[in-house]
Amino acid sequence: MVDLENLLLSTEDNILTITINRESKLNALNMGTLAELKEVFDSVYDNKEISGVILTGAGEKAFVAGADISEFSQLNEMNARKFAEEGQEIFELIENCHKPIIAVVSGFALGGGCELAMACHMRIATKTAKFGQPEVNLGILPGYGGTQRLTQLIGKARAFEYLMTADLLSAEQANQYGLANHVAEDKEAALAKAKEILSKIGSKAPIATGLVIECVNSLYKNDVDGYQTEANAFARCCGTHDFKEGAAAFLEKRKAAFTGS
Ligand code: COA
Repeated sequence: MVDLENLLLSTEDNILTITINRESKLNALNMGTLAELKEVFDSVYDNKEISGVILTGAGEKAFVAGADISEFSQLNEMNARKFAEEGQEIFELIENCHKPIIAVVSGFALGGGCELAMACHMRIATKTAKFGQPEVNLGILPGYGGTQRLTQLIGKARAFEYLMTADLLSAEQANQYGLANHVAEDKEAALAKAKEILSKIGSKAPIATGLVIECVNSLYKNDVDGYQTEANAFARCCGTHDFKEGAAAFLEKRKAAFTGS
């Protein structure tokens, strides 16, 4: 992996923590950061040493305060579609990764930051977290999948309201509406909760975990029959060693030893 300018990586107990490290700009997503996220998530896909990922921002004030507005002056009608599609591709890479990915959100998760958190499989918010899609304040709308994922997570009526008013959601609202899985007292507690969840998932059969992600995601893909995807995935799991081990361990009243095969 090339040197990373905008991300910090650390691994402990097979959990990779990725920290977006542009604190002075509230971790805004510039092109360089997006390219590095793509590179890191590409490498996570087949890395058997990693069972789960935490994605967070440096400091307490922001997870990510949006796409980097200082790069917006380059945007025009001709190149904006490519800008959105390239971002969407990276966020889909995150969403479709077969390893569980949890966003730990302290402070602002706005615009592209909210979209990035929503592309993760779960979100743990601190009490100070504020989520929102304020793009309409800039005369645009979300371009990295925010209109789709916010609607999936909080429902159509609420999505319309927050996308059109640019109002922010508090941590409590986000939790109540299904955007945040949990609210923790502070960032340390949020990281601990994310690690607890990922450790629990890490003790399960990795092929089954990856296929749960694939099946749940397929519900939201118009061109994919989710039930068919589920049946295929179920059949694939039943052909694994881990399935035989899991069933045998249950019957033998012992803990299963999964190998990912
Ligand atoms: N893009 C680029 N830079 C950003 C940014 C963004 N999305 N969000 C914050 N920053 C920068 C600010 O320009 C400032 O940089 P500077 O110190 O060099 O001037 C620094 O981060 C701190 O932000 P600041 O606005 O001074 O902090 P604040 O506490 O007064 O306000 C926010 C915090 C989040 C309310 C405010 O920064 C904001 O509205 N950001 C943009 C949010 C947004 O519209 N996101 C969607 C973009 S599509």
